[in-house]
Amino acid sequence: MDVKTAEAIAAGGLRHIAFIMDGNGRWAKVRGKTRNEGHRRGAEVFEKISEYCAEIGIRYVTVYAFSTENWKRPESEVSALMRLFSRYIDTALARLSEKKIRIVFLGDKSVFPEKLRQKMVSLEKRSSVYDRILNIAFNYGGRAEIVTACNMAIEKGASFLTEDDISGNLYTAGCPDPDLIVRTAGEMRLSNFLLWQAAYAEFYYTDTLWPDMTKEDVDAACVEFFKRKRRFGALPDDEKGGK
Ligand code: IPE
Ligand code: IPE
Ligand code: MG
Repeated sequence: MDVKTAEAIAAGGLRHIAFIMDGNGRWAKVRGKTRNEGHRRGAEVFEKISEYCAEIGIRYVTVYAFSTENWKRPESEVSALMRLFSRYIDTALARLSEKKIRIVFLGDKSVFPEKLRQKMVSLEKRSSVYDRILNIAFNYGGRAEIVTACNMAIEKGASFLTEDDISGNLYTAGCPDPDLIVRTAGEMRLSNFLLWQAAYAEFYYTDTLWPDMTKEDVDAACVEFFKRKRRFGALPDDEKGGK
C-alpha cells in the first residue's frame, strides 16, 4: 500500500470496509472445478483479505458470507457452505487472538443447530477483548434486520420509532456505517446487504472474482475511495458561497 493511502487510513479516513464476496461459483466454473471448490478457495481468501484489512489499520471489516436468500441453493451446496463455516469457527480463535481481531456475527443465529450456534456465541464472547472488529454476515438479510430492529425497539417499550431506535437495534449496533462497500465479480447490486447502513457508503465494483481477490485489489479500492468526494448532501467547504 502506498504511504499516502496508509496515512489517510491511519488518520481515520476509512474506518469501515465491507465486502460482498461474490464469484466463487464462476471462479470454479472457468477452471472446470466444482462450485464447492470455489467456496473452499473463497474461504481461504476471506481469511487473507480480512486480516490484511486489519493490518492496514481498518478498524471495522464486514463480509457478506451467506444471505437469507442463499438457502435457495441446492442442498449439497448449502451443506458444504455450512461445513466450511463451522470449520472456520473451529480454527478462528487461535488465529484471531494472534491478530487481535474480534468477531461479530450479523444475522439470525436461531436457525442453526444448537451446537453451531453455541460455537458462534462462544467465539464472539472469547474474541470480545479485542477492538478491531470483523463482522461476518451469515444468514443475513438487510430487510429482515430492519424489521427485527423495529420489533426489538417496540419490545423495549418504544411506540414511535426514531432512526436511533433502529440503528441501535441492528446487528451492527455500535459500529460506524460502512465507508466503502466492495463487490467482486462484476455484479452491481446490494443483494439485501446492509440496506440501512449503506445510506452514504461509497461503492466499488470490480470484475475480479472473489477467489482471485488480492491485497493489491484491496489497495486499489482504498486508493479509489480516497479520490471520491463525499458530500453527505451538503456542499464541500470550497464550493460554499459560490455562484
Ligand atoms: C459467493 O459466490 C458466495 C456465496 C454467495 C455464498 P457465489 O456462489 O455467489 O458465486 P457465483 O455468483 O455463482 O459466481
Ligand atoms: C450475495 O451474493 C450474497 C453473498 C455474497 C453472500 P449472491 O451471489 O447470493 O447474490 P445474487 O443472487 O447474485 O444477487
Ligand atoms: Mg453470486
